[in-house]
Formats: sequence, structure tokens, C-alpha cells
Amino acid sequence: MSYPTIRGWGMYVPERVLTNQDLERIVDTSDEWIFSRTGIKQRHIVAPDETTSSMGTEAARRAIERAGLTPDDIDLVIVGTATPDFQFPATACLIQDALGIHGGAFDLEAGCTSFMYALALASSLVASGMQRHVLVVGSESLSRILDWTDRATCVLFGDGAGAVVVSEGSHAGLEPQYVLGSDGSGAQALCLPAGGSKMPAREETVRNGLHFVRMAGPEVFRFATRVVAESTNQVLQKVGMDASEIDLFIPHQANHRIIDAAVRRLGIPTERVFVNIDRYGNTSSASIPIALCEAEEQGRLKPGDRVVMVGFGAGLTWAAGVIQWAGHLVPAPRRELAAVGVSRD
Ligand code: ACO
Repeated sequence: MSYPTIRGWGMYVPERVLTNQDLERIVDTSDEWIFSRTGIKQRHIVAPDETTSSMGTEAARRAIERAGLTPDDIDLVIVGTATPDFQFPATACLIQDALGIHGGAFDLEAGCTSFMYALALASSLVASGMQRHVLVVGSESLSRILDWTDRATCVLFGDGAGAVVVSEGSHAGLEPQYVLGSDGSGAQALCLPAGGSKMPAREETVRNGLHFVRMAGPEVFRFATRVVAESTNQVLQKVGMDASEIDLFIPHQANHRIIDAAVRRLGIPTERVFVNIDRYGNTSSASIPIALCEAEEQGRLKPGDRVVMVGFGAGLTWAAGVIQWAGHLVPAPRRELAAVGVSRD
């Protein structure tokens, strides 16, 4: 028996970095406040000519290459994003076209949980035999929907993209499992009020700043600490694992304090928790695939490792997944080996 596995992975972040010191010149805030309340030091910001689809395309290109596949091999593209290039067509179709993929393509919107929902779906499509290789992308241009005069939100987010290719694994192992949840009664806690069919774009919606992220920070904070711990326990129960058996815990990178509180509840030692929010801020649906890529690059993921990933966000939504890391099914491309100082010759 073989199970779906992550066969390739890739990330892309824009070149421009916005530090907390830069933000001190934009809004009434301080590096000390931002870092102590969130753990963020800097974030990346899209260039004027970049978009969610262009970043997602680059991350996807790297993931397909790392998987040892070509765009022709990809049967389906699922893009998780809250900041699509357009209301329609789907950003997934733009990525499909840019890479010359011939399979299906659609976007999945579950706030910051979009990547985890998409990963769960990809995994089940591969497990059922319906698709062989599914490209899952999380890409966000959050800087484009932030009110840069609102210090309560603009300091929290960043831009970037991550992608994985989900394929059938080559060996038996842990069966991946997912837990998905939602609570629409919390819809108002985190939303972008205008621009949808309920409140179409008008002069008045623009004047009132209704095309920017609105968030009830403390409410989201309480929700997040609860669901990260609960959904992790639920998914562990599904596979009969204990929190002490997790080799690497990769939570959505929204706030260091949310991660600390959840990890404390779960009793996971901090050395088994991956955190990179200091360098990227909250990149929404891109945060978990970016973290996966960095964890692998830093040698924190070894073949056979049991990895738990947990996302949460607007909806409200949440999802936890447990997978076994397969590692390199194919050798890493030369250029990436060279980048980390390794020679394959
Ligand atoms: N700089 C300085 N002061 C600030 C800033 C800032 N950037 N932002 C808010 N403040 C002030 C507030 O005005 C308030 O001042 P007051 O007491 O004089 O009114 C004070 O700091 C405390 O504000 P709180 O909102 O209570 O601060 P809190 O400690 O709760 O931290 C934060 C706020 C960081 C937003 C926190 O609530 C949080 O992280 N919530 C979760 C947010 C989140 O994770 N969202 C995304 C999840 S889903 C997704 O990823 C899309």
C-alpha cells in the first residue's frame, strides 16, 4: 500500500523587504511593539509588476522541477488564496497557462486555511486514483488589500508563495490524515467587506476603506489558540499518534504568541516547532508551504519524519494534517544543491 506524498516543493518571495523600522515611518508603531506582540521583524512586499499568479507560478515551477516532473505531468492545479488576481478567472488558470499545464485548474478560498484545505483535497484525489499529480499552490499579495494607515493590521501581513506537488508515494508509510473545520458565525472577525456581490465596488466603498482587511485581533487570537490545539489533537487521534511523536510541527505563521500558546497546550517541545514569522510576517495561505520549504532547506525535515501542519483563518476556518515526509524522490536540481554549498559530482 502506498499513500499520497509531497513529491516536490518550492517557494518564492518578492525581493523587497519592509522592516519594522520602515513601518515606524509609516504608522504610529514601534519595532518593540510589533516584535513583542507578534514575533515579526520584517515581511516581503510584491513589486508593482508582480501578482499572486506570478509569484505562484514561480513557486510552482520550482515545486514541479523538484518533483522531477514536467508541467505536462500535472493533472490538476489548486490555488489557495484570499488575494486572487481577479474575482474571476481563477488564479489557478493563470498559473496553469503560464506553466503550460494541460490539466484542470481552480481556486479554493478558505482564508488563511486555503492551502491546508487544498492539500487535504489533493491528497484524497491522489489516494482515490482520480489524479496522479496535483499541484497545490498557496500565494498571497496581502499588501494590496491592507490599509497602510491602520497600524492594527498593516504590521501583521506579508506577501509570498509556496507550492507542493502531491503524488502517490513510492513506499508504505503513515496514511496522511486531515481534519477540516469552520465556524461561519465568526465571519465578521476577519473579512474584506466590499468588492463581492453583497457590496460591489462603488465610490462610497472605496471612500470608506471597505476594500481593506478588517480584523478583530483579540477575537481571532483566542479562536486561533483554541483551534490549533484542538484540531492537532483530533488529527493525531485519527492516526493513533501522541503529540510526543511529532517530529516537526508546522503551524500557520500568524503570530508567535499564538504558536507559543498552542504548543504549550499540546506539550510539544519548542525545538520540534518550525517558526519563520520573524522574516515573512503572516503570508496567509502561503505560510505553511513556505515554512515546509525552509524546514527542508535547513535540514529540519528528514525522510520518514511525521509532520503535523495546522492552518486557521478567515471564515472562520481551520485545518490540521499529519503526513510522513518522503524527502527527495528525485535528486535536487543542481542549482539548488549549489546554493546550499553541496556538489553532486
Ligand atoms: N503599534 C503600536 N500599538 C498598536 C499597534 C501597533 N502596530 N496595533 C495596535 N496597537 C495598540 C492598540 O491601539 C491598543 O491600544 P489601546 O490599548 O491604547 O487601545 C493596544 O495596542 C493593544 O491592542 P490589542 O489589539 O489589544 O493588542 P493585542 O495584544 O491583542 O495584539 C494583535 C494585537 C497582534 C493583532 C493580536 O490580537 C493578534 O495577533 N491577533 C490575531 C491576529 C491574527 O493572527 N490574524 C490573522 C489570523 S488568520 C490569518 O492569518 C488571516
